[in-house]
Amino acid sequence: MIVARTITDLKEHLYALSEGGRRSIGFVPTMGYLHEGHASLMREAKAKNVIAVLSVFVNPTQFGPNEDLDRYPRDEERDLKLADECGIDVVFLPTVQQMYPKPSKTSIIVSGLTDRLCGASRPRHFDGVGLIVGKLFHLIKPDRVYFGMKDAQQVAVIQQMVDDLNFDTVIVPCPTVREPDGLALSSRNVYLSAEHRAQAVILSQSLEQARGWIQEETMTAGSLLSRVKERIGSAPDAVIDYVELLRYPSLEPLDEQELTHKLESPALLAMAVKFGTTRLIDNSLYHPSGGV
Ligand code: PAF
Repeated sequence: MIVARTITDLKEHLYALSEGGRRSIGFVPTMGYLHEGHASLMREAKAKNVIAVLSVFVNPTQFGPNEDLDRYPRDEERDLKLADECGIDVVFLPTVQQMYPKPSKTSIIVSGLTDRLCGASRPRHFDGVGLIVGKLFHLIKPDRVYFGMKDAQQVAVIQQMVDDLNFDTVIVPCPTVREPDGLALSSRNVYLSAEHRAQAVILSQSLEQARGWIQEETMTAGSLLSRVKERIGSAPDAVIDYVELLRYPSLEPLDEQELTHKLESPALLAMAVKFGTTRLIDNSLYHPSGGV
């Protein structure tokens, strides 16, 4: 496995390995502190492409002023070991100086999709994601890019960006990987105290219950959201940032009566909940057929 820390190194190795772009490249962009969710993306990238590339970069432009940029967990040695085990060929591990040698005056703003859900409480977050992902796509020129559906809004935003800007790559959404009790894997789970870790299972439990509620004949979007919020509120320290039901991937609101008439398009039940200073997100996608 090759570790490239500079853009020059990355380009040289990729050019040689891909035989000038003739062999397919699968790419997994991450901020490191890798877990089994990332591992599933890396294995998929290697299984479906000749070359698998991983990036590990804690991107400052997607963090707000009072967010966890400085304390974001890092463990390079463990990340490299896991990447190697998953068959990654090239790891790109740039410094902030490499990616942003001077402040960027160019933005990638995906409007509409980014002013709701996480975008409402994290203004400019998705501008930073768009910028770094756009830069990485240009440098790596991947045929396929693998993203976890835990960040369903991010997947929708990046797909829109790829369509709008004609990036020559396919976005591959992959299922959320969970702990045995249902908690979605996240690098930020490490922040949770034992007490909050136990309570955090309420996110996946409420999504699971909603799967049944959504099929009730008289269910409306409003009453579904009330029930889900009530269920989350049963965890003593849970503070809800948002719980919303939106069309996916457009992230437009559903008509209030739509659930009673059966869904017309896939719907995303998405939530962000804080336990102490740790903000967790999770979601579930419901299809008109009733499938997951
Ligand atoms: O999902 C993440 O880890 C980040 O938002 C990403 C896509 C690597 C961009 O920094």
